[in-house]
Amino acid sequence: MPDQITPVIGLIGGSGLYDIDGLQDRRWERVESPWGEPSDELLFGTLDGVRCVFLPRHGRGHRIPPSELNYRANIDILKRAGCTEVLSLSAVGSLNGDLPPGTFVIADQFIDRTFARKKSFFETGCVAHVSMAHPLCPRLGDVLEAAAREIDLQHKRGGTYLVMEGPQFSTKAESELYRAWGCDVIGMTNMPEAKLAREAELCYATVAMVTDFDCWHPDHDAVTVDAVVKVMTENASRAKALVRRVVPMLGAPRGPCPSGCDRALDNAIVTPPAN
Ligand code: ADE
Repeated sequence: MPDQITPVIGLIGGSGLYDIDGLQDRRWERVESPWGEPSDELLFGTLDGVRCVFLPRHGRGHRIPPSELNYRANIDILKRAGCTEVLSLSAVGSLNGDLPPGTFVIADQFIDRTFARKKSFFETGCVAHVSMAHPLCPRLGDVLEAAAREIDLQHKRGGTYLVMEGPQFSTKAESELYRAWGCDVIGMTNMPEAKLAREAELCYATVAMVTDFDCWHPDHDAVTVDAVVKVMTENASRAKALVRRVVPMLGAPRGPCPSGCDRALDNAIVTPPAN
């Protein structure tokens, strides 16, 4: 690994976020993956001279549901495009009364309750076990927090994101169970995305943008798509402002990740190399 790398910022936009404001030298380009069909082409460009690569997670036009996303192809093409960091932006419900709709949570933990997705690049022939104890890059979290503060964004640093399979929203009993587990937000997409980013040795951070109070809240009964979409639209313009601020803060040449995200495979592969 070189002493210094020039970061390339991958941006994964969730529901409501299908483009990046202010991107220069923009071009949509198809990147092939041996893992199959990704959600869409990648949008390449620069923000204040910093190279960025944007992927609309559900595809332009929001065509692909969470369980059918090809998470492996999506992470693979960002890696092939040269990304060194990935900022994942996603709509979530709140499981915490202190995190109302409009709040951006810079998550630091996950509980993965998904069950119908391919979760690893490693399959029969090569066995590897990466650490997921700290699933999100603290360095990226620090920078996101500083950027959120600078633009006066309502945000919280730290929080546990429960990833459910969907596509239906939770029952009230499930919502209350997740609250009892200490979860802060609930969404359908950041797993296995974060696991695959770790296997791909990418620094990965999640900005979870609260759209609703899920169904546990006494004043907010069932989650409805209408209510979610209304807040999502407001969140999208705040997300674009955050991206606009944070990308230049991440662009300077840097050394290896202090948390080792970029060396996650160093001690993870069990299968001996073939002769
Ligand atoms: N995305 C936005 N709101 C959500 C909720 N309440 N549950 C799961 N995913 C969501």
